[in-house]
Amino acid sequence: MNLKIAVLPGDGIGPEISVQGVEVMKSTARKFGHNIEFEEALVGAAAIDAVGDPFPEKTFEVCRNSDAVFFSAVGDTRFDNNPAAKVRPEQGLLAMRKKLGLFANIRPVETFEALIHLSPLRREIVDGADFVCIRELTGGMYFGKKEEGDECAYDTNLYTRAEVERILRVAYDYARRRRHHLTVVDKANVLASSRLWRRVAKRMADEYPDVTTDFMYVDNAAMRMIQDPKFFDVMVTENTFGDILTDEGSVISGSMGLLPSASTGESTPVFEPVHGSWPQAKGLDIANPLAQILSAAMLFEYFGLKEEGSLIRKAVAASLEANVRTGDIQVEGEKAYSTSEVGAWISSYIDNYEA
Ligand code: IPM
Ligand code: MN
Repeated sequence: MNLKIAVLPGDGIGPEISVQGVEVMKSTARKFGHNIEFEEALVGAAAIDAVGDPFPEKTFEVCRNSDAVFFSAVGDTRFDNNPAAKVRPEQGLLAMRKKLGLFANIRPVETFEALIHLSPLRREIVDGADFVCIRELTGGMYFGKKEEGDECAYDTNLYTRAEVERILRVAYDYARRRRHHLTVVDKANVLASSRLWRRVAKRMADEYPDVTTDFMYVDNAAMRMIQDPKFFDVMVTENTFGDILTDEGSVISGSMGLLPSASTGESTPVFEPVHGSWPQAKGLDIANPLAQILSAAMLFEYFGLKEEGSLIRKAVAASLEANVRTGDIQVEGEKAYSTSEVGAWISSYIDNYEA
């Protein structure tokens, strides 16, 4: 297969983990005889510094003309505690989502045997947890009308029926490919927008009789996720609830450093780690590259290249097994490997793999 991939390293640890992900894709492409062309583009603080815009038109063009975007992270401490900043790196991410119409954010939560001891949850609760959160990504409070005054400020949580329907379709399709269980998470006891979600979901449930649909208030879902994460198979929710719940989901597995995500919609899909830019670790070669590398697996799988995706997953599992791990997930008494060492180990595992 011929693929063109836009590489957006962004800020903080982004560039370091991006390189490792790209190397893993190159190794995988060589192994299976694919031809991948990479083109790098600016995003986030790096783009603000270079051209004054966190998602420059040029970057948009590179993304639009690619088959997929391989994204790392944006965010920089220079902007975090400065409410007066006119442009922020995060706006680059939001602009990318909106302009590429990336309305469906797929965030899987799975556990790795080698990491269960790092989970804040007891082994018997978390072992075997495996669910996907489908987060609506281009609507709700993030993009609704807002005002920001000194005495009064508001954000509007607006959803149209069409927006709700299309994200529910994605969720139902996922449920069909998994354990046929969909949980719609909302706050229908309080919010009008949530009641629209529920009405639409109840109508659609009839079209998917093979999927069990249940409804859960978001506060209850937050609780259930730590009490009984194995309850969930596919969860679907609006933008803001999804933002919060997926951070919660990411730590259940023992480390945020392992969770990849995909965002799909109307144009080029984007593959990225769930974690952020960790500016304090920038340039230190200590960040965990696994979420980024697993994003590459999701990218291949998106294009139907299942074996390629599984080989990357296998290589990641082997690196954990061999204790070739960065400090955040290393077992006591073992050496903390650097970002580049972990990446190189995984690439060479793929290079030398014989089926
Ligand atoms: C995420 C991030 C973003 C979000 C930020 C950086 C704008 O937290 O992808 O979850 O809130 O969506
Ligand atoms: Mn978030």
